[in-house]
Amino acid sequence: MSGFNTAIFEKTDWGLAYVTLNRPQALNAFSVQMRDDLYEILTAIRQDDEIRAVIFKGAGDKAFCAGADLREFLTAPSAAKARKIRAIRDLWRLFLRVPQPMIAALHGYVLGSGIEIGLFCDLRVASEDAIFGLPEVGLGILPGAGGTQTLPRIMGMAGALDMLLTGRRLNGQEALQMGLINQLVPRPELLKTAEAMAHAIASFDPVVVRNAKQAVIKGLDMSLSQGLDLEWRLATKTKRSQCQ
Ligand code: COA
Repeated sequence: MSGFNTAIFEKTDWGLAYVTLNRPQALNAFSVQMRDDLYEILTAIRQDDEIRAVIFKGAGDKAFCAGADLREFLTAPSAAKARKIRAIRDLWRLFLRVPQPMIAALHGYVLGSGIEIGLFCDLRVASEDAIFGLPEVGLGILPGAGGTQTLPRIMGMAGALDMLLTGRRLNGQEALQMGLINQLVPRPELLKTAEAMAHAIASFDPVVVRNAKQAVIKGLDMSLSQGLDLEWRLATKTKRSQCQ
């Protein structure tokens, strides 16, 4: 699949997909066009059973993504239009519906929507040059890509509120200590580490992997008791699929 302006979508013959945010001249800032491109790419990934794992990365040396495109703020649509677009193209909810594990390979600036894209991934590996932050409140806005919800779920409320309310930026070591990322590696090791994670995932039965992911992601929105029921249902379904 090709022809996107702001992202590159590639697929290997062993079932790994790469999604590269590709506006390096603007530090891969998240634009309306990028939203539409990612929407199409994620829709294709969801429907492709050959894909077993997905790696998100950023083009260029300086950033995974420096947040929402600030130049587009000047031409932002009205609230009504934005609501309508979100109803038909809700990229952030689509992230939640991708059944395959997604890995974020994060380097350089990981700000605003950049960190939020990373938070929708299931695993996060960062290089030592990474800088994480949510600058939105300082800009007079709220994060619009789920950050107020995903960040506390992943790193806990104390760290999330610190980043959100004070604009505190974290370096890679702090992000690791605070549970925002799974691994911190030297820059040359970044992609290799993400690929090793993807290889480990791809070596397992894809149905089992998807069910395990679903149990965690859906279970997070449930009470413990409902979550145990969900786990039981998925475990039974997994066993049945292996007996077929
Ligand atoms: N939206 C649009 N363009 C952006 C951008 C963004 N969020 N972040 C960076 N860019 C552009 C810059 O305008 C610049 O373009 P130019 O070369 O045409 O002038 C280019 O990317 C390089 O950025 P620059 O600011 O020169 O790099 P730097 O190393 O000096 O600073 C940052 C890097 C990330 C500290 C700085 O770019 C920045 O603060 N960006 C905005 C971060 C932000 O607030 N994001 C919004 C979150 S909601």
